[in-house]
Amino acid sequence: MKVLTIVGARPQFIKAWPVGRALARHGVEEHLVHTGQHYDALMSQVFFDEMGIRRPDWNLEVGSDSHGAQTGRMLMALERVMVEERPDWVLVYGDTNSTLAGALAACKLEIPIAHVESGLRSFNRSMPEEHNRVLTDHCSELLMCPTQTAVENLAREGVTRGVHLVGDVMYDAVLHFGVMARERSRILETAQVEEGGYYLATIHRAYNTDDPLRLRALLESLELLDAPVILPIHPRTRSRLADRFPSATFADVRLIDPVGYLDMLRLEQGAKAIVTDSGGVQKEAFCFGVPCFTMRPETEWIETVASGWNTLVGETGGESALAALVTAWRRPVGSPPPLFGAGDAADQIAALLAGVGHGGG
Ligand code: UD1
Ligand code: UDP
Repeated sequence: MKVLTIVGARPQFIKAWPVGRALARHGVEEHLVHTGQHYDALMSQVFFDEMGIRRPDWNLEVGSDSHGAQTGRMLMALERVMVEERPDWVLVYGDTNSTLAGALAACKLEIPIAHVESGLRSFNRSMPEEHNRVLTDHCSELLMCPTQTAVENLAREGVTRGVHLVGDVMYDAVLHFGVMARERSRILETAQVEEGGYYLATIHRAYNTDDPLRLRALLESLELLDAPVILPIHPRTRSRLADRFPSATFADVRLIDPVGYLDMLRLEQGAKAIVTDSGGVQKEAFCFGVPCFTMRPETEWIETVASGWNTLVGETGGESALAALVTAWRRPVGSPPPLFGAGDAADQIAALLAGVGHGGG
């Protein structure tokens, strides 16, 4: 049994870690392809080094470009790799252009596709990720869903065969690395902040970065918070700021380079609250019981909102809306409920791929 795993963007390295370990435990041979969608050391290599992810067998070095050019170059290169590797399964993660290219290349070669984080929907077709998810799900044979909502989303689209509710592999990773982060990371000292005395923010969605006025308003809304804001800045956001507001500064919003996974988890654990548009960061905030404010009109992780731990910050209310929502937030009773499985999502995925327990769904 041979699985060809396709990764390319930061969250996919993190998701691939627990699954890679579980595949090895189940005796499944895994070959790893890095498309090169993310390539800066702090967006890629740092995760391989820190998490001990094995070196990719292939690095396609596709780099950045428009959606069509980037996805097209990946598709061509992936087809060549798949023809040479002849895997039993192609394994893809999430909703990036690397995910879609992997799924398209495999389906044209009639190689079965397994999709981790299947069934998520924002129902917002202006998001590039929404197209990537829907298209990937509709050509996958094994659809591994992190939540019951994801299973229901697929059913509404008529997809029920090969669907498995397994939990979230990012939760598996948080359980393992969360403890390590608390013990080993020195990021609070480096950033000169105290536990509970700062906000953590991340911004990278096209929706928030590509409209300069929106991006500036978002940063101005962070300025109004009542404690320093640590913002590890995604290269996309840095480049948009450099283009449009090269000399802008935002009072006590501290822009730092992207950080490694352990430092990021530590920053999340210690934050007073988290402001983000990241999918992964919303879930991690929830897992650590840290209030999250999501700078989007909708989220794929609606359970986190329903539980009271995540608040959507929409368009209305201007710059002061975020500060008002942060002030008004009331801690839900008890700890966050177990939304993302039992920490064995990766094992369930590996078992499905290895053929053990196949036939469900
Ligand atoms: C991509 C995914 C998004 C995911 C995010 C995770 C798509 C369509 N989007 O968005 O779903 O949430 O990754 O972080 O696949 N850049 C660098 N160095 C890098 C990588 C990117 O400078 O190592 C800059 C380039 O200017 C590039 C821009 O960031 O044009 C955007 O990168 P890209 O990979 O196209 O999309 P992301 O915004 O990272
Ligand atoms: N992350 C990180 N360093 C950072 C920012 C994020 O390690 O500077 C981690 C974060 O903890 C989460 C993942 O990257 O596990 C989320 O990736 P991202 O926000 O880029 O993408 P998304 O989840 O929105 O697709």
